[in-house]
Amino acid sequence: MSDTLGEVMARLVASRRYRHVAPAMLRRLAVEEQADGGKPEEIAHRVRRRLHQAVGAVAGPARAAERQLGAVRDTWHGDSRNRAFRDACAGVLRAHASTRERMPYLDTYFAAIWGLTGPPRTAVLDLGCGIGPLALPWMQLADEVRYHACDVDGAALETVAGFLRLVGRPGEVEARDLVSDVAGLPAGDVALLLKLVPTLDRQDADAAARLLRAVEAEHAVVSFPARSLGGRGKGMDRAYRGRLDRLLEEVGRVTEVREASVPNELVFVLELSRG
Ligand SMILES: C[S@@+](CC[C@H](N)C(=O)[O-])C[C@H]1O[C@@H](n2cnc3c(N)ncnc32)[C@H](O)[C@@H]1O
Repeated sequence: MSDTLGEVMARLVASRRYRHVAPAMLRRLAVEEQADGGKPEEIAHRVRRRLHQAVGAVAGPARAAERQLGAVRDTWHGDSRNRAFRDACAGVLRAHASTRERMPYLDTYFAAIWGLTGPPRTAVLDLGCGIGPLALPWMQLADEVRYHACDVDGAALETVAGFLRLVGRPGEVEARDLVSDVAGLPAGDVALLLKLVPTLDRQDADAAARLLRAVEAEHAVVSFPARSLGGRGKGMDRAYRGRLDRLLEEVGRVTEVREASVPNELVFVLELSRG
């Protein structure tokens, strides 16, 4: 590692906000930004700006979510349909804009997806999961179905890991930079890429297609926000439908596309041929 890269990495790892981000992602962004020159503090500043776009909007709330997991623990008595437990989970999900937007539709959101994929039998992969797995009580998965949750954000993963342990769901969390490493992802029936493609697109134009080519699953669920996180419509619907069409061409193994959209999220269920 060059002296400059070492110094940039040291600054990033010392940053309270981003030290929980997977080192592979910190390094990838540092190398890319180093190519544009500047002093270590300037390079680190540009990396932090990009981290803010990719994970920053999640990082703060994820810490808040960890605090809120207390209420989830207190209300867990072994029944995921219990009202107080679901309210506690909903409290955590509301801490993050991306999952908060999904709350009004959660009762039917996963039922509609599984209606198109068939109920998962062995495993669900949640790629770029954030704190999304706290919606497990609404997923109605059979007890033996494993849940693999993957993200670059170690703080969100810690919350998710605590939750999976609490409710006794088999599976694991993995800190992984899905832009630089898609090899050997666990296999499953369904891969969820919920609101992940726009985030990957901002990091590397080919990353989403690379990921979908690597996924070992019969179905992938790709979703896009139907309005900005700020709540204002921006013709996003048309733009993201266009993005999906291009993605399908790039991926080349999608045999069927069906839609399970809700008012503020475009949800596409892709059937994949074996990779
Ligand atoms: C808009 S959030 C969506 C979270 C969740 N899937 C949902 O729908 O609520 C995007 C997620 O992608 C993660 N992410 C961003 N870049 C990533 C990367 N290179 N590899 C893996 N995850 C990444 C972020 O940390 C964040 O949790």
